[in-house]
Amino acid sequence: MRNILIFKGPNSRFEEIIKAHNENVLSLYEILESRKKDEDGSTKVGLKDYYESIIIDSTDFSSLSETGERLINHMLTTFVYHFDIKHIFIQNPTETIEKKIKIMAKNNSEYNLEIIQHTYPMITKESLLNIYQNYSGTVIGQEKVKEEMLNVLYTIYKKRNKGEPLVLMFFGPSGVGKTESAKYFSEVLGGNKIFRVQMSMFQNSKSLDYLFGEEHNAKSFALDLLERESNVILLDEFDKTFDTVYSAFYQMFDEGVFRDRNYNVNLEDAIIICTSNYSDLTTIRRTIGDPLYFRFNKHIEFDELKKESVIKIIKLIYDNILEELDDSEKDIVVKARLIDYILSNVDTFMKQSPNYRRIKNFVGDLINSLLVKELIDDIEQ
Ligand SMILES: Nc1ncnc2c1ncn2[C@@H]1O[C@H](COP(=O)(O)OP(=O)(O)O)[C@@H](O)[C@H]1O
Ligand SMILES: [Mg+2]
Repeated sequence: MRNILIFKGPNSRFEEIIKAHNENVLSLYEILESRKKDEDGSTKVGLKDYYESIIIDSTDFSSLSETGERLINHMLTTFVYHFDIKHIFIQNPTETIEKKIKIMAKNNSEYNLEIIQHTYPMITKESLLNIYQNYSGTVIGQEKVKEEMLNVLYTIYKKRNKGEPLVLMFFGPSGVGKTESAKYFSEVLGGNKIFRVQMSMFQNSKSLDYLFGEEHNAKSFALDLLERESNVILLDEFDKTFDTVYSAFYQMFDEGVFRDRNYNVNLEDAIIICTSNYSDLTTIRRTIGDPLYFRFNKHIEFDELKKESVIKIIKLIYDNILEELDDSEKDIVVKARLIDYILSNVDTFMKQSPNYRRIKNFVGDLINSLLVKELIDDIEQ
């Protein structure tokens, strides 16, 4: 028997799968190069006498021409028989290649074809408890968000979503923890870094090609999705783009599949988080339109930071900055009672819709100006 394995999923997992087969491997590159003949008839790449497996990963397809894509089964068959190859591993093939491989396996009983769709970790009771206990320590002052998230996540935990993705809109002012929350949920729920796309990047035709998938051998959104390490997907700054771009997401939000011209991506049980600076539901509905608006399972509002949150954040930032100072600097800052001064001015600060970045700049500037003043005084003396 000869085994063919098609694996759809991230590189980290694919590497584990092929680990036991990483000797005597023939690559697609070698296959392609060995077919090219120099003018004198000699081949460019020398092949060994013996190979056990052929391994083709996501990135390898970029060296394949359109004809090569259509003829992949014939090409592989030639090499399989020449070297008596026992294993073929293919990661994230295009739909065309998958179809060709299926035909190849069907027409020859020697082949045993297995297709593995990577599954991401399920939501556990422990991860929900973890969010309940720790979210507010990471993202300050968004208690309501925590409650709403736990409620929607419970549906997936109980598998009542029936595989459908959970589509969420995080909205509210900037710098209050929307992106940070999305990253946090990805880490708690799957232990992996979030899959993030900045929506403002879709402005020119090249980036739209990336989204809609032009050439099978170019980088595309669909291929990146196939390779994602986390099932939490962040479409960041969702409001910073336009209608054509939104249309790419209808089917993804609705049915949990993303298709472009080359790939078909399964988004079962995915948590798709879109962030935006919209101020209220009416504005969201008016701006993105009903069809898209109603595709969201929930719109989760992030509040302006309240005074007590601002105080907490000031202390946190102050401590973080202090940690980076050397002892003499620390001494100056502590002696000047800078933290008391900052905290006694919180009310003035609250008037200018505080956000994390602004607070950080404010505290950082104050500390620096104190240290600079000391330095100058020192020199002048
Ligand atoms: N409520 C908050 N609690 C703690 N840190 C926060 C909070 N809001 C923002 N930050 C910090 O500020 C920075 C920007 O926050 P981010 O989540 O990107 O804001 P946005 O709401 O604009 O997406 C991040 O480093 C984040 O850790
Ligand atoms: Mg953000």
